Amino acid sequence: MSLFIGIDVGTSGTKAVLLNQQGQVVATGSGSHAPSAPRSGWSEQAPDDWWPSTIEAINQTCRTAGVAADTIEGVGLTGQMHGLVALDSSATPIRPAILWNDGRSAPQCQAVEARIGIERLVSLCGNRMLPGFTAPKLLWMREHEPEAYARITTVLLPKDWIRYRLSGELVMDVSDASGTAVFDCANRTWSDELLGELDLPRSWWPHAAEGPEIVASVHAAAAAETGLREGVPIVAGAGDQAASAIGTGLIKEGTVGSTLGTSGVVFAPTDQWRSLPDGRLHAFCHAVPGRWHLMGVMLSGAGSLDWFRSAMVPDIDEAAGSEAFPRIEAMAEEVPAGADGVIFLPYLSGERTPYSDVNARGTFIGLDQRHDRRHLARAVFEGVTHGLAQCLDLVRAAGVEPETVRLSGGGAKSPLWRQTCADLFGVPTTTTTTTEGTACGAAILAAVGAGAFPSIEDACQATVSEVDQTDAGPNAAVLAARHSIYERLYPALKPLFPAIADDA
Ligand code: XUL
Repeated sequence: MSLFIGIDVGTSGTKAVLLNQQGQVVATGSGSHAPSAPRSGWSEQAPDDWWPSTIEAINQTCRTAGVAADTIEGVGLTGQMHGLVALDSSATPIRPAILWNDGRSAPQCQAVEARIGIERLVSLCGNRMLPGFTAPKLLWMREHEPEAYARITTVLLPKDWIRYRLSGELVMDVSDASGTAVFDCANRTWSDELLGELDLPRSWWPHAAEGPEIVASVHAAAAAETGLREGVPIVAGAGDQAASAIGTGLIKEGTVGSTLGTSGVVFAPTDQWRSLPDGRLHAFCHAVPGRWHLMGVMLSGAGSLDWFRSAMVPDIDEAAGSEAFPRIEAMAEEVPAGADGVIFLPYLSGERTPYSDVNARGTFIGLDQRHDRRHLARAVFEGVTHGLAQCLDLVRAAGVEPETVRLSGGGAKSPLWRQTCADLFGVPTTTTTTTEGTACGAAILAAVGAGAFPSIEDACQATVSEVDQTDAGPNAAVLAARHSIYERLYPALKPLFPAIADDA
């Protein structure tokens, strides 16, 4: 029985999934690493921290499955997108990676958008120049760390650093390259014109291959460290959102998904290239060759509940350990939908969609004497979902009409969150049989690349089924009324956010 491993280099750890040639998930495993926030609005991680957690994830997965890593026949990589891994001429990281949720390059983005114009940017790469994307971080380095900048010879994304550690090859894939802001997504190649405009050398950007293409193989040194067999093929893989879409079967136009991971995402595959002139949704290459997707990304999705757990209810966090989330959910369910008037704006790391604003800040509003932390907990579940509903409205405005929304990510395990989504999205939600959809998507790409399935469609059919439909319930009307207030809060607070953020 052939086995394929998908490895997901995430923000809070690495996860791995072992898939067999019949499309069954045989085992999962993980290793941890942590981001650091050296300043408010910054988010960094040392690329070398991803390697031990990757080895740990591979080992744990194989131990659970009771197989030796050297029986694995293909490797697929995925991971957090946009992170800047800048390498010098000896392929050594020059500084810690600057991650997807780091807002420091906002001034560079503003300057580029003012000079080039949003419409022209969208016509060149499909997207706005957003803080968090890779290229503006290089512009930040050029201004603030000129000596380090002068040493750059190659730019990689997080999972591609792991590929380098496994194989010695410097390669990207088209879905992850889409999030650099210098990739011509319509034509699936680097935009020479935009690179020229930004004065960024073309030679820094490695070949961007299609997701299931074999681009490297495990070398002897990595084989010795990981237990994988020397020579095992590694496919190009995908950014975590495109991989998660494959792992949950979102590969055709009309299917729409929402991921409640650290970020909160609405993802809509498209059969033809399509972008929004104002760039309010990302328009990226899918990891399915010849397809694309539209996407809205909230920077704090289920990450908002993580924050709530450790910052607001540390007693529950300590006492309940892995049961902390169900305890918080039960607490939130003790108060009615609408949280008796408390609304949470989930802008803990600024925001990207529906409002690109690095100065936006998390907010609880509507508090009175009756409220306690149960209301705050419920407001967190609801506030994130209000934001996702706004992203979904943008997808609808782009002409994609979903019949259901497929939920994935850690937050989708919560019945309360699934119900709140169904109440606010206007269509039923479902989940899929696949656990760890992101790593699973990478394993599917590996299996397709190695020829175990004729196509990604076939692999998804064998691996993924939709389950657990949730329809709108009795709280839908209350939440709809809250939604119209929620929508008015950001515009009202926007003028104040810069001063509030400045003061932090
Ligand atoms: C996608 C994005 C996030 C990260 C999180 O554009 O920024 O989803 O990939 O891992």
